[in-house]
Amino acid sequence: MTTDAKILSALRASPDGVSGAQLAEQLAISRTAIWARIEELRKVGYDIEAGPHFGYRLVSSPDALHADDLLARLGPVKVIGRDIQVFQETTSTNDVIEKLARDGVREGAVVFAESQTKGRGRLGRVWMSPARKGLWFSILLRPEMRPQAATQLTIASATALRRAIISVTGVVPEIKWPNDLLIGGKKVAGILTEMSAEVDRVRHIILGIGVDVNLAAAEFPVELRKIATSLRIEAGEEISRAELATAILHELDVDYARIGGGKFSQLADEWEAGCATIGQNVSVQSGVQRIRGRAEALDDDGALLVRTEHGHLERVIGGDVTLEKN
Ligand code: BTN
Repeated sequence: MTTDAKILSALRASPDGVSGAQLAEQLAISRTAIWARIEELRKVGYDIEAGPHFGYRLVSSPDALHADDLLARLGPVKVIGRDIQVFQETTSTNDVIEKLARDGVREGAVVFAESQTKGRGRLGRVWMSPARKGLWFSILLRPEMRPQAATQLTIASATALRRAIISVTGVVPEIKWPNDLLIGGKKVAGILTEMSAEVDRVRHIILGIGVDVNLAAAEFPVELRKIATSLRIEAGEEISRAELATAILHELDVDYARIGGGKFSQLADEWEAGCATIGQNVSVQSGVQRIRGRAEALDDDGALLVRTEHGHLERVIGGDVTLEKN
């Protein structure tokens, strides 16, 4: 953890205040150095009160994302969120992580951007990423798994994202296979999984996650207003992006460990319980192929099993799902 992350974490742990002397001792640096770092934190928007009786007290944090703050809020993790970077603007956080992957950076690195100029969604779609309105971030993973099992990670991301949204906002989203999160039938978050693999081995996987957090209805383009929503619209209040970001990283770290520990079936059960797709009649466009039938379950690799009208069980690993009338 950086010095700033340690200071923020100590301030959060003592809401009534912590003295400069205590901070200096905890961090093994001088009181003057603490004071200088506090000044820098104030400059980037942290309201830190100072007084003779309570020392330093964190009054409020800015809405902007800061790597040190995210690290401090997150605390110790197994893998996901060990390294965090925040960009003010980038093309796509998936591109930034792809470069880090090629440079040999260890798994668990996370890159956030306050805005993306070329955010992309699944199936070549554009992903709108306005500044400071959402969470636009990507995670680098190097799992020891077959490429066919990579859908497990998409499933894990959707369940982790759902749990984090419920715990921070109280709003309960539904999952649409494989990785959309919907509230009242409108999309609020999506995941773009990109993989580099050999025939039988994954080299790395990039999980790109986009969550529409604080957009007002009028901030969505007209053509999206009927199909997309934000957490702010649904919860009726502004949501702390930093709190949500750390909750998501924490939940993902838990689920990634579950997959590494061979417990994907637990995750699949949780996914199915929160899923709007299972038990429904669906139509799946997968490349040039369209499959119609009843979505029955997930298999061990996270693929969707669809029973067609002819009674065949089709295994779907990618594509666009539309729910049909039952
Ligand atoms: C989808 O539902 O189509 C997936 C959307 C994924 C969007 C995120 S935002 C962060 C990351 N960078 C991108 O360019 N895309 C993903």
